[in-house]
Amino acid sequence: MQVADVEKSLKTLSLAGRLSLIRNHFAADRIVFSTSFGQEDQAITHAIATEALDIEIFTLDTGRQFQESYELIDLTTKKYGIALKTYFPNTQKTEEFVAQKGFNSFYQSVENRKECCFIRKIEPLNRALEGAHIWITGLRAEQSDNRSSMPMLEWDEAKNILKFNPLMDWTFADLESYLHTHKIPQNPLHKKGFVSIGCAPCTRAIAEGEHPRAGRWWWENSQKECGLHA
Ligand code: ADX
Ligand code: SF4
Repeated sequence: MQVADVEKSLKTLSLAGRLSLIRNHFAADRIVFSTSFGQEDQAITHAIATEALDIEIFTLDTGRQFQESYELIDLTTKKYGIALKTYFPNTQKTEEFVAQKGFNSFYQSVENRKECCFIRKIEPLNRALEGAHIWITGLRAEQSDNRSSMPMLEWDEAKNILKFNPLMDWTFADLESYLHTHKIPQNPLHKKGFVSIGCAPCTRAIAEGEHPRAGRWWWENSQKECGLHA
């Protein structure tokens, strides 16, 4: 079956059904899932764990996350018994960057911010994806214009990997309902107006009616992407 045909068969399935189909269809492949422990990722983790699917779960610890996020990581790994693999930024590159530009240089320019994201997220992500065949993410079309036209299953030219976004067509209401039904642990910051949660210095709560990603790199007029999903 071609990727486009597999994608078609995914559309009518539940989250667990989608993950199982990919696991079974690409039986010989190494499948990895990147989680930031956001709401989408928590739903996927729940489905992977409850279906006991052979999918490796990893996170990228930038070193700048919220204390609440670290607490959720411990809570989730314990609840689901997950062997989580954590990737940290390269020590030497981080030390050099901080020595040269200081701790909070991301506020000074988009260039500095992208360099920080590269060192703390992109380079570790590239390491995490080494040797993997399929990369699962929690991206949803609704999240941003940039994501609205992304397919559920696509060949990622830049990363040379098949990327699977099983929640691509879910609305926020679909997601909330799933989290509620399955009593899935969530970051307490969501109740305080934080929707999309990244690093602490680069994330703020949003006001009612604001775009869900308005709280990310809020001081910038940029595309609100760090390059993970460019
Ligand atoms: S970001 O590009 O703006 O940081 P976002 O927070 O929307 O991404 O998350 C989208 C998806 O990217 C998540 O569902 C997850 O698969 C992946 N992701 C983002 N941040 C991390 C992280 N720190 N560790 C692992 N995966 C991440
Ligand atoms: Fe650095 Fe902010 Fe990017 Fe985190 S989100 S890696 S702190 S620039």
